[in-house]
Order: sequence, then C-alpha cells, then structure tokens
Amino acid sequence: MTVIDHYAVLGHPIKHSKSPRIHKLFAEQTEQSLVYEAQEVPAEQFLSVVETFFAKGGKGLNCTIPLKELAWVFAEHKTERAQLAKAVNTLALQADGSILGDNTDGVGLITDLMSNHDIKLADRKVLILGAGGATRGIIRLLFEQSVKSIVIANRTLEKAIDLAAEFVSVGNMIGCGFEVLAGQQFDLIINATATSLTGQLPPLPANILAEKGVCYDLAYSNEPTTFVRWGQDNNAVKSLDGLGMLVEQAAEAFFIWRGVRPRTEPVIKLLNDERISH
Ligand code: ATR
Repeated sequence: MTVIDHYAVLGHPIKHSKSPRIHKLFAEQTEQSLVYEAQEVPAEQFLSVVETFFAKGGKGLNCTIPLKELAWVFAEHKTERAQLAKAVNTLALQADGSILGDNTDGVGLITDLMSNHDIKLADRKVLILGAGGATRGIIRLLFEQSVKSIVIANRTLEKAIDLAAEFVSVGNMIGCGFEVLAGQQFDLIINATATSLTGQLPPLPANILAEKGVCYDLAYSNEPTTFVRWGQDNNAVKSLDGLGMLVEQAAEAFFIWRGVRPRTEPVIKLLNDERISH
C-alpha cells in the first residue's frame, strides 16, 4: 500500500489561500504523490494543531499570517535565513524526527524580481514600506544581491529605527517615517505593509519613484492592489504584486520537502490567466 505524504498550510484567515492549488500543480508536474490542504488555525491553537499534525505522520507545513513568528519559536532547528527573519513559513520533518524551520519568502521575492521579471538589483536604492515580519524576511536577501541601500519607512517610527539598527551590520540601511521621504528617489519600492489587505495606502509623497523605477507589492489580489495602482500612476516601468513571489516561495518549500524543484513559470502563467478572466 502506498502511503501518501501529508502537507498543509496553516493561517488565519486561510480560505482564499492559493497554496493548495499551487502545490497540487507542482505535485502533478513532478509526479509526486502527496496531499496538501489548507487549515484555519487561530494563533492560540497553533501549538496543539502543529504537534498533532506531526504526531500523525505529517511531513511538512507552511505557516502564514499570523503564525510565522509562532512557527519560528516552535522549530527546533532553523536555517540561517529563518534565524535572521525571526519568522518561519516552512516547517519540515527531518529524518531524525526533528522539525526544521525555514523562511522561503525572501528567496521567493528575489527569484520573482530577478528571474521572472529581469529586474536588476545591484546598486539600486530600495525603499521598503513597513517594518513588520514581512520586511524582516527580505532585507538580508536584498543586500545579498548588492542593493546600494535600503530605507525602511514605517507608520510607527521606532519600529523602523529598531529594525534598521538590528540589520546595520548587513548593509547600508536607515529607518524613518513616511513624511521624510519627500525629496528622495528610489529605484525599487516594496510594499511590505498590511495596507493592501484593507485597500489602504501608506501616505507616500509624490515623485519618490526614480525614472524607470519598479514597484512591488508583497500582497496579491485578483484586482490590482492599491499600491500596484499607485505604482502605475507614478510611471513605474513595472508595478507588480506578489503572486510570483507566492509561487516562488512555494517552489522553494516544495524543494525542501521533496528534493525536487518544480517549474514555476507554467503555474504563474495559469494563475495569472485565471485572474485576468476573473
Ligand atoms: P507582517 O508580519 O505581515 O509584516 P506586521 O508585523 O503586523 O505584519 O506588520 C504590518 C506592517 O504594516 C507594519 O509595518 C504596520 O505599521 P505599524 O508598525 O505602524 O503598525 C504596517 N501597517 C498596517 N496598517 C497600516 C496603515 N494603514 N498605514 C501604514 N502602515 C500600516
């Protein structure tokens, strides 16, 4: 009898997650036999759900909002990139029975920007909006691609300053509020705030996007997000949302679990075509 390996994504809310679909497509493409489900899990139930999942023989989990920090605490071993991010989106059962925590969000973003959209990062001035877990997960990987500098702008000033101070040894970085951005220009602006989920937008001054600048919203939606529209209105050469990053971070998790790297391009194309016809 073939035993089918079980995986799941946990989050709250999780109803609209595209992850089960993405992993099903990856499994078909690579001919892997597995089940991947979505499970609604409020933070207070996280520990018992995860312990039960692995006790019943589950092989791996993805964790999304608001569970990434809890997953980080839960993981017995962590990769260096997860350690720095202080957030874990992928839990993997190891051969010795221990649980490894990784964070594949940063690599998902970099792959989408550089491989899928041919965007050069070396020597670019980057602005990140927001100073939460999403920002924490991408700073190190952006510096690994030799970006020139990163400014973190956040509604709560202290959080931006603290985060910049924490990563000061990694690269040239400062934290500030939104109002001091006026007069500066950036080649790449990344929205890592939670605003797109509510249709809001941080208070951004005009003219902060350099000529040929790129905008990237870590969130994704069937309709263009408020920030993607802001990028279009501000003449971004590309104004992208995070659908590609979602598929790329999933591919990295799939590789960690199965040792096989799925092709992402047909999956991104399929999901994009579906939302255009939505
Ligand atoms: P995540 O783990 O997804 O980053 P988070 O840690 O809750 O989630 O961070 C959410 C980010 O969105 C924060 O930077 C938050 O700003 P504050 O630190 O000031 O709370 C930002 N954010 C949420 N709503 C916002 C809004 N309406 N305008 C500007 N920033 C907002």
